[in-house]
Amino acid sequence: MFTLGVLTLSDKGSKGERVDESGKLIADMLSSIGARVLKREVMPDERDLIAGKLREWADSGDVDIIVTTGGTGLSPRDVTPEATLSVIDRQVPGLVEMMRAEGVKKTPMAMLSRAVSGLRGRCLIINLPGNPKAVREDLEVITPVLYHAVEIMRGEAGECASRTDLAGARTRHAH
Ligand code: MTE
Repeated sequence: MFTLGVLTLSDKGSKGERVDESGKLIADMLSSIGARVLKREVMPDERDLIAGKLREWADSGDVDIIVTTGGTGLSPRDVTPEATLSVIDRQVPGLVEMMRAEGVKKTPMAMLSRAVSGLRGRCLIINLPGNPKAVREDLEVITPVLYHAVEIMRGEAGECASRTDLAGARTRHAH
């Protein structure tokens, strides 16, 4: 089990002008693999507000993982990656590298996501795009490694190099 915060970045969503389908999808998909969703919110695309919320959630110690959705593109209002970079201590680039690499097999537009991922203390923050289809595709890519990521963050995992059980991670966790 791991604990989760889901933060949706959308100017329209924050004003109630758009239903937060992507936030719900993230909560549903990750609940189905055992995540407990402790925090969920919709906020406007404001860099300082987003950074403040990420800090608050990460520093509360309540959530192992924060998944954001939206604001990773090229429009002037898309600032989620900058807000995330301003609060993380260490990047975890492999997650977003693989999301883009697998994403372009579905649509070349996946190249346009500027999503980043990294650690603030013991909390892993992952940016996803705003579109529900992109959310589903990207979560399918990264879900198999999330449990092991949390184990390592908590200091519960043994030496990765000596483990033989990790090859089964995909089949165990990606359903
Ligand atoms: N990634 C996947 N896997 N599938 C997609 O359809 N859409 C892209 C991209 N990533 C997409 C994707 C598009 S169209 C954009 S503009 C960027 O994510 C940024 O989206 P955002 O601004 O909603 O965060």
